[in-house]
Amino acid sequence: MQFFTEISTVKAGIEQAKKRPIQSLFEEHENRAENFSLAAAGLFLDYSKQNINEDELNSLIAWAKENNLVDKIKGMFAGDKINHTEQRAVLHTILRAPREVKQQVLTEQLSEQVITTEQHMVNIVDEVYQGKRLSSTGAKFTNVLAIGIGGSYYGIKVGLSALHPYHSTGLHVHVLANVDGAGVTEKLAKLNAATTLVVVISKTFTTQETLLNAKAIKDWMLAELSSSTALEKQWIAVSSNVEKAQEFGLSPDNILPMWDWVGGRFSLWSAVGLPLALAIGNDNFTRLKQGAYTMDQHFKEADFERNMPILMALIGMWNRNGLDYQALAVLPYDHALRALPGYLQQTDMESNGKSVSNQGKKLPWLTAPIVFGQEGTNGQHAFMQLMHQSDEIIPTDFIVALQGTSDFEENHKVLVANCFAQSEALMQGKSLQQVEAELKEQGESDEEIRRVACHKTMKGNTPSNTLLMQSLSPEALGAILALYEHKIFVQGALWQINSYDQWGVELGKHLSEQVLALMADSSLSHQMSPSSVNLIRAFVQKK
Ligand code: F6P
Repeated sequence: MQFFTEISTVKAGIEQAKKRPIQSLFEEHENRAENFSLAAAGLFLDYSKQNINEDELNSLIAWAKENNLVDKIKGMFAGDKINHTEQRAVLHTILRAPREVKQQVLTEQLSEQVITTEQHMVNIVDEVYQGKRLSSTGAKFTNVLAIGIGGSYYGIKVGLSALHPYHSTGLHVHVLANVDGAGVTEKLAKLNAATTLVVVISKTFTTQETLLNAKAIKDWMLAELSSSTALEKQWIAVSSNVEKAQEFGLSPDNILPMWDWVGGRFSLWSAVGLPLALAIGNDNFTRLKQGAYTMDQHFKEADFERNMPILMALIGMWNRNGLDYQALAVLPYDHALRALPGYLQQTDMESNGKSVSNQGKKLPWLTAPIVFGQEGTNGQHAFMQLMHQSDEIIPTDFIVALQGTSDFEENHKVLVANCFAQSEALMQGKSLQQVEAELKEQGESDEEIRRVACHKTMKGNTPSNTLLMQSLSPEALGAILALYEHKIFVQGALWQINSYDQWGVELGKHLSEQVLALMADSSLSHQMSPSSVNLIRAFVQKK
């Protein structure tokens, strides 16, 4: 089967797109704004500022169908082992599905384990909140410290900041990811050992950073508390490696399972979400999962032509493989969504940052874009200059809530106005003629106009999506996260790669062990470049 850029009709469309102003598409198609928008799972996507017309989009949809995307979607939800390099299913979606769906898809034993674990989570949250689960000193818990990194961190981080208005339990939940001791110090300054519940999250329970951080916190807590039951009463682990968690000193009753068919970067819906549930309460955590489940149903049932994840995926591939754009900017115009770009860096780039096909062949096409971003309007005072005046065209996803969560209505209105203005400015740009006319209007001399006009033009023609939600509710967040999960699934399936392993992280882990050994004994024969040998020497000899 041909890749879409090899199909002659699509090729022609790509060449057309490279030459045309996006704005011309609105002139060609009177109802473009309405027809290139759709609502699903409480979200509204306007993709009319993308550089693609109806025929081109339909050709991509036809290509996706010819590539068995329907069956691939069904296969994922049915538990096919699509993570073929690890021989695993990809079933994070089942964690947010109703009980009867769990029982249809999973074995009886597994569905029971999943349902029991969910209930165990609910009980922990209730018991902590109601003061039935107390610390080893008999005190109520006031703080929770979640220790984990990557997928054992990002989802919790996004949820805690996005759903801050829904923090209802009174518990202060902190996250510790980086191995940098400065992070540990920062958290310890905020914590009282007697009233802290620790949730250590690691699917493998071998991640260097998490284990070191957990040990530092454990040493601190045991030193602070004379009680011998601190680990038993104040520590919970979430892991698939019960043996390692027990070796660390945790009792099996306090170890919640993770399953190999839930990828770390897709694990917020599992017991990994416990720290978030401890902050927002069981009802809001259920609402989060409900929002994701509603998006799952849309993804499974909607025709491709009206399927939000599929359209975002195909347009993203049009931009990446057709128009050769290297990056994707994710710009949530929402302070509470400030952690979303970082979360999507892992979800997207750790899933699809690959170059070998499922068949083991070097891919002849590019895959995941470089995902970056930060909250708007901050980005306008950081990288938007490049986006407007460099030669790089960077497709952008704007995300904004119509209703703010603060009392500052005027601030929210200005935030939303900036979001809409940026998508318009990125598309419109400003030509030399427009700049010259503007400067003339302002009374500038011909000489001044000649001097500065060329520095004030903006290239425009940058495509963007604008994703709207009524307000940033638990359901909306769940739908957004599921939307991107499914977009990434579709792109991986059509790029013919395995989106669910991450072998690329292994070499760095291995070499860090060698560097550590060389720091301890420089006579070792580990093959390191002279550069790294010098750097290690500088560290060892530091004053
Ligand atoms: O980033 C690599 C990775 O393996 C992620 O996929 C994972 O979420 C993270 O490290 C943490 O792994 P663990 O949950 O096993 O500690």
